[in-house]
Amino acid sequence: MIFEQVATEGCQSYLLGCSQTHAAILIDPNLRQMDHYLGLAARDGLRIRYVLDTHTHADHFSAARELGRNLSARVVTHRLSPAPYADFRLCDGEILRVGQMRLSALHTPGHTRDSMCIVAEDRVFTGDTLLIGGTGRTDLPTGDPEALHDSLFNRLLKLDPALKVFPAHDYKGRSHSTIGDEIAGNPRLQKRERGAFVAMMRELNLAAPTHLTEALRTNMSGGKTVAQMLSDAAANIAFISMAELAERVKRSDPELVLLDVREKDAFAAGHIPGARHLPRGQLELRVNTELPDPTRRILVCCEFGHISTLAAATLRELGFTQAAALDGGIKAWRESGFPLIPD
Ligand SMILES: [Fe+2]
Repeated sequence: MIFEQVATEGCQSYLLGCSQTHAAILIDPNLRQMDHYLGLAARDGLRIRYVLDTHTHADHFSAARELGRNLSARVVTHRLSPAPYADFRLCDGEILRVGQMRLSALHTPGHTRDSMCIVAEDRVFTGDTLLIGGTGRTDLPTGDPEALHDSLFNRLLKLDPALKVFPAHDYKGRSHSTIGDEIAGNPRLQKRERGAFVAMMRELNLAAPTHLTEALRTNMSGGKTVAQMLSDAAANIAFISMAELAERVKRSDPELVLLDVREKDAFAAGHIPGARHLPRGQLELRVNTELPDPTRRILVCCEFGHISTLAAATLRELGFTQAAALDGGIKAWRESGFPLIPD
């Protein structure tokens, strides 16, 4: 087996390749590492055929949908996953063949209803069912401590103690452990009796993950993250630096249409000399009257440089091929000492 482990802060992803056929599967990919996975697969001569999520992640953004689409790879989840973009749903006990490798699915609900562990040769990918020295939490949507107790003590921990454990998270830089080591040393597994285990899980009182609602929204629906929206927009437009704009403002460049898309009060309080006001919320509706010439160079600005990126991308979609955004927002412009004038 060709094997790569990629850590993104605490999140762990795994690339497994068949050494004979070079077909590969990517387990629990993180949106922030898309290029990294593709680089590793290219370096190892692997063709990613499957992208698998061990469960619906609530703490980070899965790259499964994006990679599945880009690579024409099949997105694999458990049958109970809500993800509409999953096109291969495994049930307990089913085997997925990736080249000559055989991966078997073990349905292990508890951390989430759709959690599964994947056994491949000498190792098991435990998702958030079993972590090194811990277990996944059971207090997030579809979590169930009783189900986790059953999944651990009646299923996962009955596997070969020599199996290597590769979890979906580890925050201490460890790569793996074994089932035997976890049975012996994992503090959470010392509460073997069901009632005591459930009580311990219910008393954990953990803080919610930082991006809980956004992660659930995007991982459950296949929708984009806000960062993806911004980076997709940024990839489709050009930017102009503050220094370049300052120089054009100074000589009152007649070629430039400077469009301020902030709200009325912010524009009135102070805007870049020569700027025209068209709030982002009214952009599409007023564009035909305000900007009759689609060939003009339009430079969009806003307070922080995010909304202007989205607005410039929208203008490009509408046919304004010269639409660009100010690199940095009016906040940065103000802080750099460039002039602003009140309305
Ligand atoms: Fe999780």
